[in-house]
Amino acid sequence: MFRAYREFMLALKKRSKKLTYIVGLVSQKGGVGKSTLSRMIAREFEKGGMRTKIADLDTQQQTCTYWAGRRAECNIEPEIQVQSFATVKSALSDAPRFDALIMDGKPNASEQTLEVAKAADVVVIPTGQTVDDLHPGVLLAHSLVRKGIPIPRIAFAMCKTTGSARESDAARRYLEEAGYSVLEGEIPVSTAYGSASDNGKAITETSYVTLNRKASDLAQSIVDRLTELAEKRVA
Ligand SMILES: Nc1ncnc2c1ncn2[C@@H]1O[C@H](COP(=O)(O)OP(=O)(O)O)[C@@H](O)[C@H]1O
Ligand SMILES: [Mg+2]
Repeated sequence: MFRAYREFMLALKKRSKKLTYIVGLVSQKGGVGKSTLSRMIAREFEKGGMRTKIADLDTQQQTCTYWAGRRAECNIEPEIQVQSFATVKSALSDAPRFDALIMDGKPNASEQTLEVAKAADVVVIPTGQTVDDLHPGVLLAHSLVRKGIPIPRIAFAMCKTTGSARESDAARRYLEEAGYSVLEGEIPVSTAYGSASDNGKAITETSYVTLNRKASDLAQSIVDRLTELAEKRVA
């Protein structure tokens, strides 16, 4: 069942003295869903009462930056703040003003990806279900671990899935056997998600309750992971 974000966020804030939660979205491949998830997380966090900002680090595409423009044009609430940053360092310098910073990384950028991963409380790697998608995701995760990122901070998110339970199970097994955890919930391919984005909405804001629920389940799972990690830090 869907749990109230507000209560959850307040609990999250109380549990840790840390001022800004940082979620990093990274991948080696492009088009896997980093920007889509960034916008969803930002929307859910804002809804939950956290002042949130997206740092759009893909300066070539600026997907989130343009999306925020469409959102503002359509007067969609809550307003989501997005800013383009050329470097992780400058994105971080702006972080203390917010409760959460969502870093939307650019693909094929090993240096920036590592910087995002180092700064993030949780590093989300979106992936499809095929080995073509899973394999580079696992290689990226391995390389981050080799460079000192703790495994529990890495979470795979299943995006653009086909809806086949068999494929989804196989993909989850693949990632778990490689040593990584997979967030609960998944985002199936749907034109309604695409058109929501086109209209400045997040994927939790489509016209379809079931699709919104699917997306918010994944958002909830990210919140759960952040809470777990924050509890460990406090303990
Ligand atoms: N679940 C989905 N269903 C349909 N289209 C999607 C879905 N997720 C993402 N897309 C579309 O796929 C493209 C790539 O997604 P995006 O989030 O921009 O990936 P990335 O930031 O990793 O490059 C975009 O056009 C986006 O609108
Ligand atoms: Mg992107």
